[in-house]
Amino acid sequence: KAGAFILGTGRALPSRVLTNRDLEKMVDTSDEWITQRTGIKERRIVAEGESNSKLAISASRKALEKAGVAPEELDLIIVATLTPDYPMPSVAILVQEALGAHRAGAFDLSATCSGFLYALSIADKFVREDPARKILVIGSEVLSNKTNWEDRTTCVLFGDGAGAAVVTGSPDGRRGVLSTHLHADGCLWHLLTLKGCGSLYPPCDPRIPREDYFIRMQGREVFKNAVRAMESVAFEALRANGLSPSDIALLIPHQANIRIIEYLRERLELPEERVFVNIHKYGNTSAASIPIALDEALEEGRLKEGDLVLMVSFGGGFTWAAVVLRW
Ligand code: ACO
Repeated sequence: KAGAFILGTGRALPSRVLTNRDLEKMVDTSDEWITQRTGIKERRIVAEGESNSKLAISASRKALEKAGVAPEELDLIIVATLTPDYPMPSVAILVQEALGAHRAGAFDLSATCSGFLYALSIADKFVREDPARKILVIGSEVLSNKTNWEDRTTCVLFGDGAGAAVVTGSPDGRRGVLSTHLHADGCLWHLLTLKGCGSLYPPCDPRIPREDYFIRMQGREVFKNAVRAMESVAFEALRANGLSPSDIALLIPHQANIRIIEYLRERLELPEERVFVNIHKYGNTSAASIPIALDEALEEGRLKEGDLVLMVSFGGGFTWAAVVLRW
């Protein structure tokens, strides 16, 4: 039986575009290297006055409008993010206040690039309990402020943005989320970190290496784990629903690297037109990548009623997840 049904989606990207050519002037890299190794051509970066919560609010307004849902109808707001404006209040609280969603509970969730699928799976449980509930699920990141712009191995990868979805209970028990699959393995957490300014790594502490205030990643090791985990959770999700890959109308993978996406596409033996890719425009926007992709896929008419969608993510922690839904 289906659970969370998506009533409307929205996205917000910062206005400033940072191209590979721009990066060539900042670090020892080339458009050719970045394009070949990652598939990224440009990414969006917040400008003065833009912030995580502002992107989240803008994406949410669009999602609510498409859903035909008023902010006062919302029961819950969940924001998946690893780059909140502040430790307190949460981004979800800032969204709640800006929208005037007075009835809604609100909290942030930290599960790196899998955050949106983790958040969607929580929303799924809430609407399975009471299908009348309306929940705003957001993935929003400003990774540019946590990027070491002198480290060419990471600074070419990330971008900023937000995506949002308004969900409620399935209208017919058929359409909506069919299953959710969440995983984590802390054994290799040290391969991908952002330690400052956590409470153990206070701001401007001279004893802490400067690099620890930014995202640090052992890319090759993360890559190997990402392909393995995403393949495994994709097949787990298909098996759980008695599906084969050919049943999937659209795969929406986390956009971290075009080579990871290609690997997954080949393992699932899907034709290119059944895999959504927008990494060339936005880079890796962590928790925002899947809801941004979903919103664009809908705008491009890539989904019709009854289509099966498989969403798959992988991120720091490690965390990885999959959600199967019938559109
Ligand atoms: N420009 C030019 N050369 C570079 C650059 C760059 N921007 N970055 C690295 N290189 C060099 C390296 O120094 C290395 O040189 P060497 O061979 O002389 O030592 C060479 O290119 C190859 O480096 P690798 O790290 O082996 O390159 P790889 O093919 O693995 O690509 C990448 C690196 C793109 C980071 C890849 O490993 C990757 O995508 N990893 C996974 C990222 C991911 O999935 N993250 C998920 C979650 S992110 C999150 O949770 C926030």
